[in-house]
This record gives sequence, structure tokens and C-alpha cells, in this order.
Amino acid sequence: MNETISRQKFLQYTASAGAVVLLSSLEGFAWEKPEKKLRVALIGCGSVSNRYIPHLQTSPLIEIVSLCDIKYERAVAQDKQYNVNAATYPNIDKMLAGVPFDMMITITDMQVHGELNKKALLAGKHVWSEKPMANTYAEGKALFDLAKSKKLGIWGAPAVVNSPQFVFMNKCIQEGKLGKVASAHGQYGHTGPTWSAFFYEKNGGSMPDLGVYNIATLTGLLGPAKSVMAMLSIVKPERTVDDKGKIKVEAEDNAHILMMHDKNVISHVMCGFNYFDPHGHEAKDQPLHSIQIYGDYGNLRLIGYDWETNGVYLDNSWDEPAKLYQKDSEGYVWQEGATKIGEALVKGIEPRINAEHALHVLEVIEAARKSSATGMKIHLKSKFPWPMVK
Ligand SMILES: NC(=O)c1ccc[n+]([C@@H]2O[C@H](COP(=O)([O-])OP(=O)(O)OC[C@H]3O[C@@H](n4cnc5c(N)ncnc54)[C@H](O)[C@@H]3O)[C@@H](O)[C@H]2O)c1
Repeated sequence: MNETISRQKFLQYTASAGAVVLLSSLEGFAWEKPEKKLRVALIGCGSVSNRYIPHLQTSPLIEIVSLCDIKYERAVAQDKQYNVNAATYPNIDKMLAGVPFDMMITITDMQVHGELNKKALLAGKHVWSEKPMANTYAEGKALFDLAKSKKLGIWGAPAVVNSPQFVFMNKCIQEGKLGKVASAHGQYGHTGPTWSAFFYEKNGGSMPDLGVYNIATLTGLLGPAKSVMAMLSIVKPERTVDDKGKIKVEAEDNAHILMMHDKNVISHVMCGFNYFDPHGHEAKDQPLHSIQIYGDYGNLRLIGYDWETNGVYLDNSWDEPAKLYQKDSEGYVWQEGATKIGEALVKGIEPRINAEHALHVLEVIEAARKSSATGMKIHLKSKFPWPMVK
């Protein structure tokens, strides 16, 4: 799958990680003692921390040393709930000045990811960020360049490219099993988060929260988008959420995004917060497909969601019914991104999750906003290494 990074590159990474005392003996890149684990600090102790913390705790290579939330009692509560025994902080400045760590994991409200990620990079920390990495492509690219200049890494969710179903679909496309690929579609929606207002505020919306998965999957499989056209709308202008009561919805809760890829391949994503879906976040038995890819010789349908997959139908015969492949997710879970990136840093391997890909997805989202506002087709400038699995 992924090439191993060079010894020099690895040294650069680790030298900046502070964790690297350990690499005095490079052979095997082994961390032998618990104190040589990658020390991570998690910022944002809300809903998704309930998935991140236990997953990080499964890794023998990672130690959660700090928890932070501006609602400080949440950091304290999560520390207790998961027996983390971490230092707890009420804001990022105190955390950066506190117990040393190597990588920050940003799982706060979407709108503050960029500013928090910048502070962490400036303080010499690697970053794993929930989506989006920043509010705009320009802000995200500046973070990426800052990270590079400081020999640090920044990576962003989602982790969909890690699933074996993504690998299977990539292989089918690259081996020509679909013939000439023409079109693809992805869809993901539910009736919207009920706990926090930020999902509906400016720079929130169903694209960075939900569509982001399908955009990552489709660009990951078909290559970078060259241009984007979109229509976005607000179907429900008011909502009631736990943290702020009745609010005005400012960001789109319904989005249709068209992407033009290389070789005239067109893909489409629809996402929204008003989509009845009784399978919700329990996709285990979801029998319907949410991603489909068509060529002139075959098609693929991904069953379940790209973030929680139940297999892929490959239909490429006039005589035989479609066959279901890759039902086994081989341990892949959507919340694994931070753990996998942390482990990759420790092991000195290049992860498949790619920062430039996350930035490209961010540019698609921003372009969709622009296209919908102006009625224009928006040309993109960003690219990422593709195909993502060779
Ligand atoms: N909840 C999910 O199922 C889920 C799944 C995948 C990804 N995500 C992503 O994870 C992120 C968080 O979502 P959530 O559902 O956990 O939201 P949430 O509202 O439950 O939690 C966010 C937490 O961040 C804290 N916070 C906000 N600004 C902060 C700051 N400046 N410093 C420190 N803490 C701050 C809030 O007080 C809150 O506790 C979002 O980017 C979301 O898209 C969520």
C-alpha cells in the first residue's frame, strides 16, 4: 500500500515531535517503553470524543496526556469516564503551556479548527483535525505550508480512504473492471445533529459535516476535481438545539454538488440535514448503497456508508447477477484517523490519509458555496497524489 518514508524524512518528523528521544536506535523504529509513546492532547470533549478517546486507548503506541474543552467540566468528565488520567485544561493556551505533547487532536466546533490548528503548529505540535481542517482552502493551505516549514505534519478527517472497501473499489477502477468510467454518485444525510448549534452556523452545514465523506471518497477514487457546480439550500430555517435553544439556520442543510474530474468523468454528491434515514449512525444492517460508480463495462455500489461499509457490489456481467465483495471491514472504523496517523508517526510510515487530499476536499466545499451563490462553474487549483492506493 504505502511506501515507507525515508530515514531522513522520518528523523525530521520525529525530531520535531519531541517524542523522539526514542529514535536514538533507529532500527525497527520500536518504542520500547511506555514513556516513549506518542503523547497526544485532545481538544474538544463533546460528542465525538466518546468515539475518539476509546479508540486512541486501544493503541499501545499512543498516550492521551491532555484533555481540553472551553466547557472545562467536559474535559474533567471525559477524563473520569474513560480513566484517562490526563491533565485537563480550559483552553488551548493553557494546554500548550502545560504538559508536553507531540500531536494535538482537534475535535471542537468546526469553525475554530483553523485557529486552534495554527496555534498547535506554531507551538511545534503535529495535528490531526476533524473536518474541516480550516474554514477556507486558503487558510488550510497556509496551515499545510506552516506545518511543512516547521517539519511537522497536519492531517484531516475523514479516514474513508483507509477502508478495505475503498481499496477494493480503487483496484476495480484502476484495473479497468468497469471499462471506461463515466459517472458516480454519493449521498449521505440524516435529520441533523440536535446537540450543538455550530453545525447550522456560518461555515458549518451539511457539506463539511456529511458531504465531506462522499467528496473524499469520490475524489479519492476518481482523482482530483477540476471544477465544481453546486446548488445549496436551507430547507429548515429554524432549529432547536441543546446548547442554544431556538436558532436561525445560516449554513446549507441541503446540498447538491457536481464535480468534473479528469477524462470528463462527472460525479455528484448530495447531502443534507433533512434526509429521513432510519439507519442513522448505526449502519451495520444498512442494505442500501450510498456510493455508485458507473463505467461502460461495469458498475460498483458500496453498501452502507463510506464511513461504515458493509461491502461492495461489482456488476460487470450480462449473464451473472452482481456479486458482493469485501463485506469484511478488517477493523476499519471511521474514528480511527487520529490513531492511525499517530501510529504512522511512531512507526515512520507514510499514512494513506493525505493532507493535500483533505485540502482538496475543502476547496471543493468552498467552491460549492461560491458556485451556489453566483450560479457559476468554479475551477479548482488544488491536487493531491493520485491514485491513492497503488
Ligand atoms: N458527533 C459525531 O458523531 C461526529 C462524527 C464525526 C465527526 N464529527 C466532527 O467532530 C467535531 C466535533 O463534533 P461534536 O459532535 O463532538 O461536537 P460537540 O458540540 O459535541 O463537541 C464540541 C466540543 O468542542 C468544545 N469547544 C468548542 N470550541 C472550543 C475551543 N476553542 N477550545 C476548546 N474546546 C472547544 C465545545 O465546548 C464542545 O464540548 C466536528 O468537527 C464534527 O464535524 C462529529
